[in-house]
Amino acid sequence: MALEIRLSAVTVDYYPGTAWQTRALAGVNLLVGENEQIALLGPSGAGKSTLLRVMAGLLVPGEGQAVIPEGGRVALALQEPQRGFFAATAWEEAAFGPENLGLAAGEVEERVRWALGAVGLPEEKWSWSPFALASGEQRRLALAAVLAMRPRFLLLDEPVAGLDGRGKRDLSRILRELVEKTGMTLVITAQEADFLFPLTRRVLVMDRGVLVADTSWGRLGEDPAVLEELGLELPAALRLLYRLAEKGAPVVPGQESVEGAMEEFRKLLG
Ligand SMILES: Nc1ncnc2c1ncn2[C@@H]1O[C@H](COP(=O)(O)OP(=O)(O)OP(=O)(O)O)[C@@H](O)[C@H]1O
Ligand SMILES: [Mg+2]
Repeated sequence: MALEIRLSAVTVDYYPGTAWQTRALAGVNLLVGENEQIALLGPSGAGKSTLLRVMAGLLVPGEGQAVIPEGGRVALALQEPQRGFFAATAWEEAAFGPENLGLAAGEVEERVRWALGAVGLPEEKWSWSPFALASGEQRRLALAAVLAMRPRFLLLDEPVAGLDGRGKRDLSRILRELVEKTGMTLVITAQEADFLFPLTRRVLVMDRGVLVADTSWGRLGEDPAVLEELGLELPAALRLLYRLAEKGAPVVPGQESVEGAMEEFRKLLG
């Protein structure tokens, strides 16, 4: 049977019934299937993290329904990974998930080795306390901890926050390889559309708890008001194509993928 995450009319309030009640999600309908790569955009406070928590089954909606695959098949890497650390060493932190799935010790070891290696955490630091790692390394460890579960759905909340240029490029490469090899579904939030464009095809846009668009990069480019109203921007490659098209250059600006955009530049340069 095909795996999917299905949210129907999901509403979430923090501190319900108190003076601090905040509506974080309002009537969200969403279906996410296998082998999808999805960007989740929206200004601060739009409800992106809340949506990911519901999709991961960590938060039960106050109203509506969330149907989620079980057994470690959905994993969420938190926006502030250091807040989730609890183990004495990086190794144990990454081993917790697979151990909890009840896997044999050998299988746990193999997965942890693979996951810590995949994110490029230097081996001499595998025995360090997670709190002793630099923030970029903590990001890598948080990712390794969820990868070790070998999820079919990987939800990443602001995975590049705190990473330097090389860290971002490394992460981008790791994620592209993972998708190629495993066909896993990715849902990623980031402030930078430029990081998301090469990794994703479908684009979700949130504003004040509402899913205001469920679209693609190409269609988003054709309807710039959606992003502009929220103070967000298209990826630089698409913005440049639109500028060139405006000036009369023979390019097709509404490209769905970074490969498509690059092909337009290549044609232009002859
Ligand atoms: N743990 C919490 N307790 C109370 N209110 C919360 C909590 N987490 C989020 N909120 C509120 O819910 C709304 C949505 O927050 P959420 O963190 O989901 O947004 P976001 O899109 O992830 O924002 P950011 O881009 O800043 O991470 C906001 O109004 C926020 O203040
Ligand atoms: Mg957030």
